Amino acid sequence: MGLLLPACRNGKKGFGKITMEIISALKESGLVGLGGAGFPTWQKWQAVKNSPEVKRFVICNLSEGEPGVFKDEYILQNHLPELIAGISLAKETVGAQRAYVFLNDKYRKYLPKIIKAVKDKKIEVFIDTGRYLCGEETTLLQTMEGKLRQPRQKPPYPTETGLYGYPTLINNAETLYRAYLISQGETEMKRFYSISGDVIDHKRVVKEKVGAKIKEVILPRYLDKINFVRISGPSGFFARHEDFEQIVSGTGAVEIYGKNRRIIEGLIDSMVFLKNESCGKCTPCREGSYRITELLNKLITTASLWDRKEILELISVIAKTAGDSSFCPLGLSIARPVNSATENFKQELIGE
Ligand SMILES: Cc1cc2nc3c(=O)[nH]c(=O)nc-3n(C[C@H](O)[C@H](O)[C@H](O)COP(=O)(O)O)c2cc1C
Ligand code: SF4
Repeated sequence: MGLLLPACRNGKKGFGKITMEIISALKESGLVGLGGAGFPTWQKWQAVKNSPEVKRFVICNLSEGEPGVFKDEYILQNHLPELIAGISLAKETVGAQRAYVFLNDKYRKYLPKIIKAVKDKKIEVFIDTGRYLCGEETTLLQTMEGKLRQPRQKPPYPTETGLYGYPTLINNAETLYRAYLISQGETEMKRFYSISGDVIDHKRVVKEKVGAKIKEVILPRYLDKINFVRISGPSGFFARHEDFEQIVSGTGAVEIYGKNRRIIEGLIDSMVFLKNESCGKCTPCREGSYRITELLNKLITTASLWDRKEILELISVIAKTAGDSSFCPLGLSIARPVNSATENFKQELIGE
């Protein structure tokens, strides 16, 4: 099943049937966004393609600002032609006039290679500072439009009202790369997992099936050395041995920490990151991440077991409030690391 027919390869328009076939192939493949949210890819492509607006855009999200996630950089290093083919495919399929690569400044060293690869393809590169929140699709749009780097209300979604108000397809780099492989007949649904942490020799990217379990992406020789793992970066969750049957969700990042590392370190690291990346627009996230960080540090220095239990309860209440009432997914994610740590590592946290 090779769907990338000549009309698509040379970039000419007027191949409605083929674009429908590509969207059907994406639907059949079950491809979901690999930037964290996991939204069905074909639905976004179809929404932009069917828009009544003539002007449309495609954006490849190469912001990758979350610690522990480096799979998109791996694609830049090893699969750039396929990634650019994926962007071109998306552009032609949805009928966009122009596509952009939203590139994290830390990947500036790849710029000459990217510029060479996108020559004559109506694909431009937009380099950003690389703040984590700027990878969130509406903040990304604000950034590209030169506006305040804060999220927008959704709906309307970018597929409807995106860049400069026009329908915009925003996909993660790996999603576009995989979409291209699907158009070429790839049927095996695999994805890249970023594996790092202080237990392993050096960080690496592994290719495994979509929905792989934690234990399936960690080499067996490391299993006995682990105290905890962090899944999907600071906005993700903490897991112990007993949880290794769980699926590696979100951005597919697995950070592995050894027996000499304490869960409180991991939790403080997650919370400091979220606190620093919070844009400050809404109180539950701005104040919540700040207070939780403060309380976690207090937990370390508090002698009384009774007080430590109270501190932990207060942390859970604040995290729940942030998780229930923040404006955007960054604030909503505050509860995830806190809940997983307090539920799975309660004894270690209160030092009973
Ligand atoms: C705080 C935050 C940061 C994000 N950073 C990225 C990022 O660096 N790269 C990315 O592809 N998606 C990121 N996302 C998800 C995007 O908002 C969006 O869902 C994604 O780019 C859509 O592409 P996909 O459907 O292919 O996953 C982030 C979301 C949030 C809430
Ligand atoms: S949840 Fe956090 S990052 Fe999102 S808008 Fe509110 S303050 Fe900003």
